[in-house]
Amino acid sequence: MNTMKNIFASVCLFLAFWASANGQITTANRIILAADNPGPVISKDIYGQFSEHLGACIYGGLWVGKDSPIPNKDGVRLDVLNALKEIKIPNLRWPGGCFADTYHWKDGIGPQSQRASIVNVNWGGVTEDNSFGTNEFMNLTEELGCDAYISGNVGSGAVREMSEWVEYLTSSNESPVTNLRKQNGRIQPWKVKYFAIGNETWGCGGNMTADFYASLLKQYSTFLHDYGNTPLYKVACGPGGDDFKWTEALMKNPETRSMFQGISVHYYSVVDGWDVKGSATDFTEREWFETFRLNYDMDRILKNNEAIMNLYDPQNTKGIIVDEWGNWFRVEPGTNPGFLFQQNTLRDAITAAIHLNIFNNHAERVKMANLAQIANVLQSLVLTKGDRMVLTPTYYVFRMFRVHQNARLIPVNIKCENYTFGDKSIPAVSASASLDDNGTIHISLANLNPSHEINLSCIIEGFNPGQMTGEVLTAPEMNSYNSFENQTAVKPASFSAFRMKDKTLEVSLPSKSVVVIEIKQKTK
Ligand code: AHR
Repeated sequence: MNTMKNIFASVCLFLAFWASANGQITTANRIILAADNPGPVISKDIYGQFSEHLGACIYGGLWVGKDSPIPNKDGVRLDVLNALKEIKIPNLRWPGGCFADTYHWKDGIGPQSQRASIVNVNWGGVTEDNSFGTNEFMNLTEELGCDAYISGNVGSGAVREMSEWVEYLTSSNESPVTNLRKQNGRIQPWKVKYFAIGNETWGCGGNMTADFYASLLKQYSTFLHDYGNTPLYKVACGPGGDDFKWTEALMKNPETRSMFQGISVHYYSVVDGWDVKGSATDFTEREWFETFRLNYDMDRILKNNEAIMNLYDPQNTKGIIVDEWGNWFRVEPGTNPGFLFQQNTLRDAITAAIHLNIFNNHAERVKMANLAQIANVLQSLVLTKGDRMVLTPTYYVFRMFRVHQNARLIPVNIKCENYTFGDKSIPAVSASASLDDNGTIHISLANLNPSHEINLSCIIEGFNPGQMTGEVLTAPEMNSYNSFENQTAVKPASFSAFRMKDKTLEVSLPSKSVVVIEIKQKTK
């Protein structure tokens, strides 16, 4: 009997090897989806965005003013507004970044002609005329149908100033500050969901030690009151990169811990370090590989932060808020170095897929994430030039992945080949999956290998598969990008290189691609 079994196993092995050698589907790359045991809800806020007074992010990117010849709705450019609505952006962070810790909100309210101009010391030393302020931002979030995430000024601000900002925004009581809001044309308070107490307080937000900041955090938080029915979700300034001691300093003390609901994490992928920073468009395969190797580090950073948080908060009451992430490359030649304007290629699309898959898979703790940044800065969703707008490859990944918003995570057990360059290796496939309220499964995949397709078997447990559709994002070159002249070099297409065989989904992932497959549940 055993001999028969051994012969059978050898034959199977031979067939698998033969199929592999002939480029057919094998079990070498496989994922198992526990669809019968879905995990936590993937917060829609993981798909959040970030808008800073930096370069042409606000001015030109979002805001053109009511009198602009560029079509706009109350000063916000219509093309960008519509593109953002299309991807269902769940929340928007503002006004910074480093800018937030130089921002005094009262400079940005009242009649436009009377607003103070300031110098944007962090970003190019340009004049900031404060024509986009609190009212304009809150109106924008209402127009987008998204939540507001405000970054308060700890670095150069004051407790009273921050306290009054929350009052101006959210209180319906009678007070000098709420009267100011009424004078400025807004009778009802707005709804503010998220409020950050400082940004990068270990760096541009004040160069503080963790313990010094923890004391300030308690002081500031005490005076941020909840008005109305929606309590503020307060975000403490967390670590940059892998400074896990910072996380520990904020988490270990119960009094400090009681002062916030979430803790931020910032992590950028910077190829060859801050002194070099690779080019956004002119790069080698080494840099392509290196970008993804750095992107995957987000997983390690989250795991280590989660380990600390699990120790002090085993009930999982505090969330991780990754409110800055993305690729940070050199600015485009001839542009202001302080404006951080970079192009966006197929490489950035794969970066976005890797990050969003990681965040989905960490949905238990990761409650929000914000791409840096929404327009014209770093790894943007859109680029603008005068009245023209181009959607980046990163934009399309957000469009493809929006199906995961508020769906339940399906844990993915993945076994796949490596992508090797030189003496380093990383997993060649990035994946996550979810089950939505209609009982439909979405699987998002990325093949990082620029030279060959990958055949993948997806075993879906506890699910009766029905109708299936797919979408793919790829392009001829690793550095293909959408320019103002050629706006559709990288855009999604319908995808059909998959089939269901005995409840196993067999997919051929094209080289350097992002794929999302939708599988509806079979109804009798
Ligand atoms: O996103 C650009 C800058 O990067 C932000 O202002 C700052 O918080 C970070 O260092």
